[in-house]
Amino acid sequence: MRIGIYGGTFNPIHNTHVDIAKTAKEKYQLDIVYFLVAGTPPHKDTAENIADSCRLDMVKLAIEDIQGFAVDQREILRAGKSYSYITLQEYALEYPDDELFFIMGSDSIINFTKWVHPEIISGNASIIAAPRKGDDITAVNKAISECNDLYDGSFELLDYSANAVASTVIRKDFYTNQKVRADLDQKVAEYIVEHHLYSSYKYDYKKVMELSEAMEKELKPSRYIHTIGVANTAFNMATKWNYPAFNAMVAGMLHDSAKCISDEKRLSICHKNDIPITDIENKYPHLLHGKVGAYFCKSKYDVFDEQIAHAIEVHTTGCPNMNLLDKIIFVADYIEPGRDKQPRLDILRKMAFEDLDMCVFMILQDSVNYLNENPDMVDPTTIDTYNYYLNIIKRREVNNGI
Ligand SMILES: [Fe+2]
Ligand SMILES: [Fe+2]
Repeated sequence: MRIGIYGGTFNPIHNTHVDIAKTAKEKYQLDIVYFLVAGTPPHKDTAENIADSCRLDMVKLAIEDIQGFAVDQREILRAGKSYSYITLQEYALEYPDDELFFIMGSDSIINFTKWVHPEIISGNASIIAAPRKGDDITAVNKAISECNDLYDGSFELLDYSANAVASTVIRKDFYTNQKVRADLDQKVAEYIVEHHLYSSYKYDYKKVMELSEAMEKELKPSRYIHTIGVANTAFNMATKWNYPAFNAMVAGMLHDSAKCISDEKRLSICHKNDIPITDIENKYPHLLHGKVGAYFCKSKYDVFDEQIAHAIEVHTTGCPNMNLLDKIIFVADYIEPGRDKQPRLDILRKMAFEDLDMCVFMILQDSVNYLNENPDMVDPTTIDTYNYYLNIIKRREVNNGI
């Protein structure tokens, strides 16, 4: 077999990465290309603080439908710094009769002599350097010929002309430039939005404490205790599901910020600010505390993050196709440690950290059962949300052959 190993941080993976792998696969007649997602690269500053598992998830999403591509997560799973020479030695042991090709970015070939044990890398695999947009090709060619002189093995430049933007530009401009997003697989772009990656809106512990003090004054004691429970649960769930944890905590802190005001006040805030009111909300204005709480984010608490406002807005009923933070707050509100009346809480508390969509679905199931006993309180959004997640679970079962 001819095996390609494409190393990189993939922060995030974009179309050029995939094209490079396709080109290398074709030109070198590779049977398989492994995307070797780097852990903490010893020679690179990982300025953008995103979880390794997020980079891994994005690579999986970008290549899952492409035949002959696979993910290699060994460098992520390996403790400590990841060195390519160790990985290449492992490959050589795992595939003693096969031919290995190590694909790297042109920036890496320029620094190749500075890598740890470059001779072990090139002794185990042929090196293919992939050009990047804006490369100084003369410098790249010079580096390649120097490597060919210095080390055993072969170094070649991949015949490919890169025209997409670099990962650094994507990280900087993702939220402001539509063209930048076009260089990403759509599923990857959705993942970035959902997980709030590369966003400048990041809150910290100080902001959480500030909001906690404000809520202590604003809410009844029992509601405040519930709020702390939701904020802490949201923090834990966010850590599990790769969402900025203090952002989730801010959302938890503010989710019931409009709970302890009068119905009249909630209605008048909605009227004054053109916040739409549904029939059921008109009848039971306490249901508006989500929408009014979302409005309070900007108007009272200097929280301008759209995802936080949205999660607060939908936390009582949920909504079809909730994003990650929506789900975290919806679930945290239901399972926080102070809750004790809902059925099967122990199962839900476990499920929240194992299978988030299933947990959302089970909560909706219980809510629908409860509302069936109180039919005039049924908010149609809860039913829509229930049906949406019922479909997701059913589809999943079909795919899994259950
Ligand atoms: Fe609430
Ligand atoms: Fe709540």
